[in-house]
Amino acid sequence: MSSNSEQFLPAMCEIAREDGGFLMTYFQRHIKIEYKGDADLVTAADRASEKLIRARIGARWPSHDILGEEQGLNDQGSEYRWFVDPLDGTTNFAHGFPVFAVSIALLDDGEPLVGAVFNPISNELFTAVRNQGAQLNQKPIHVSDIATLSKSLLSTGFPTHKRQSNPNIHYYWEFTLRSHGVRGAGSAALDLCCVAAGRFDGFWEFGLKSWDTAAGILIVREAGGTVTDFEGRPAHPGDRELFASNGPIHHELLTIAAEIAARPATLPQ
Ligand code: IPD
Ligand code: CA
Ligand code: CA
Repeated sequence: MSSNSEQFLPAMCEIAREDGGFLMTYFQRHIKIEYKGDADLVTAADRASEKLIRARIGARWPSHDILGEEQGLNDQGSEYRWFVDPLDGTTNFAHGFPVFAVSIALLDDGEPLVGAVFNPISNELFTAVRNQGAQLNQKPIHVSDIATLSKSLLSTGFPTHKRQSNPNIHYYWEFTLRSHGVRGAGSAALDLCCVAAGRFDGFWEFGLKSWDTAAGILIVREAGGTVTDFEGRPAHPGDRELFASNGPIHHELLTIAAEIAARPATLPQ
């Protein structure tokens, strides 16, 4: 079915842009923050955004499955399944920090086919169609050609259940010392897109969800990058932890990650 995969892209872009504009109507309006967990925030904007996206997808493709962060899975037994993060970067959004996005992906038989991530603050729409490359605002993008970790800029994030236990502090420490720096801007979908656009050379995170990464994994790969689990196997949406990179530094990232994992812990887990 990938022969007509491009049929989905214009509508997906339209929905992502419409939803990004919709999110802006809530941004910096002091909307109420609710908690799904200790540090797991949700707002009316997350819920209304998902409602809008589901309505738009459902109107065009009523038989397709939709999995969204806030409303869960509508399983109709379709080979097509949409993965929707209606607001990636809710913590930023809730604090008025202008880094967030809407992330939408369409998978067929479990593999990403089309993806779009829209940042309404910067008006940047990252897209990819399987085997057809990645684009930013309709212009082709490519990962960086940085060859070593010591010359790389990386990014990571900490999942919302970080207060219980999180090994990432060890990785954050080590990779900060060995690279130009590690950013933690608070949107995994945008982190992946920044790898695709050559702004970051690598990204890793623990505790990810399928809606965080379904579009971004495709966008990185279509921009020439590599996305794997910590053992180097190709990553799939739904993998809780992954490494994404430009390719040349991937082996170095995985080697250091394996060294860190093998060490006795020197900081709290
Ligand atoms: C979160 C963001 C954040 C990442 C967390 C995600 P949300 O998504 O992507 O960067 O570190 O793991 O849960 O909750 O804002 O949609
Ligand atoms: Ca998310
Ligand atoms: Ca979200």
